[in-house]
Amino acid sequence: MSNRQITAHRGQRLAGRLSVPGDKSIAHRALILGSLARETTFVRNVPDSADITATLRCLNQLGVHCERVDDAVSVAGLDGRRYKQPGEPLDCGGSATTMRLLLGAIAGRGAKTTLIGNESLCRRPMARVLEPLRLMGAESEAVGPEAFPPITIFPPERLTSITYDLPVASAQVKTALLLAGLSAPQGRTILTGLLQSRDHSERIIPRMGGSLVVTPESIVVEHSRLNGIALTIPGDISTAAFFAAGAALLPDSDITVRSVGTNHTRAGFFEALSWMGGNATIADARDTDREPFGDIAVKYAPLHGIVIHADAIPFLVDEVPLIMLLACFAQGDTVLHGTHELRVKESDRIACAVEGLTAMGAEILVAEGQVTIRGGRPLHGASLNPWGDHRMSMMFTIAAHAATGESSILDVECEDKSCPRFYDLFQQLLQ
Ligand code: S3P
Repeated sequence: MSNRQITAHRGQRLAGRLSVPGDKSIAHRALILGSLARETTFVRNVPDSADITATLRCLNQLGVHCERVDDAVSVAGLDGRRYKQPGEPLDCGGSATTMRLLLGAIAGRGAKTTLIGNESLCRRPMARVLEPLRLMGAESEAVGPEAFPPITIFPPERLTSITYDLPVASAQVKTALLLAGLSAPQGRTILTGLLQSRDHSERIIPRMGGSLVVTPESIVVEHSRLNGIALTIPGDISTAAFFAAGAALLPDSDITVRSVGTNHTRAGFFEALSWMGGNATIADARDTDREPFGDIAVKYAPLHGIVIHADAIPFLVDEVPLIMLLACFAQGDTVLHGTHELRVKESDRIACAVEGLTAMGAEILVAEGQVTIRGGRPLHGASLNPWGDHRMSMMFTIAAHAATGESSILDVECEDKSCPRFYDLFQQLLQ
């Protein structure tokens, strides 16, 4: 992969309409659940991002026939059959969602399998998934106490259902255990604890005929034979958020991102933007395949600082760096509580954002999971390193266009992980 660098200056305004690639989280789930179903699943608007390509490649290695034609993918479900034992390790690239979800699926339906990843993925803790899977009977080998990849998983003949109290609000962990629970032949797998995170799995599993019941305190899943379905994935709200942040920061901006998923467990960024005084509205709201979507319009408006409590973080977890950027331009301080999980994403996103935004003139205080951004300090250009993290690279691109002077952003090719052609889309809006 070549190292691409961009040089950027302050932009005038953003204006126009655009579509963003399909939602990455929903795509992973549709493809992996499709592999377990008894018929073929047809998925449209599948993003051609590196993470989704990794999931498709791994499924093919597991003996699942997936065929892609433009933005449509068909997945021939294996029904009751088990995944094939792959001849080579499954390469999950930089995708923790691919690895964590597949670990859950393979624990219930696979053979001994080794999963590998790139340098960034080899720093992501897998113990949070492997420990409950071990309680269900799937042993594994990994690196160190945090269970870093490479991982080898040894699925048992029959998984045991468990009751498990989720210690971390992670939709990846929740989904891995739901996938395993769907394959445990007897009993019910009951999840309690920190369940409040994106709920795409809870929506799509019943849509495929799976037995899954959500109560305020638990999610209960049972062995199920899934049906193949046809679904169209809405645009990725986490990608839309970057363009929205650009419009929120550049005076006179007025943009609309079409057909974006607006599931409330993903929409925390837009809620926070409104609390800050931002002008964001959803038009033409529709509901398809149990996932709501609509056109999100964002206009420039002056912002003010806010406090974001820890329980709101899971609903905007991927957008925290963007909120840090908005906060630099807002009047007054912004305080974010409970940001620990940001430390174990593709990069340490708090450290990376602090490094880049501070180089641009921001004042940010970090203490024990609490981040305070001093507002009212418009940024100036700097040399920015996203540490190979797609969301940091896209955030710095927006920051560079909102700042005075010249900025350079290193290694922007990492954006391919979720939004190939991000910069082209951004340039189309830039007036
Ligand atoms: C994801 C869940 C989140 C998020 C990631 C995708 C998912 O991770 O950061 O980009 O698709 O389930 P955690 O579940 O670890 O918070």
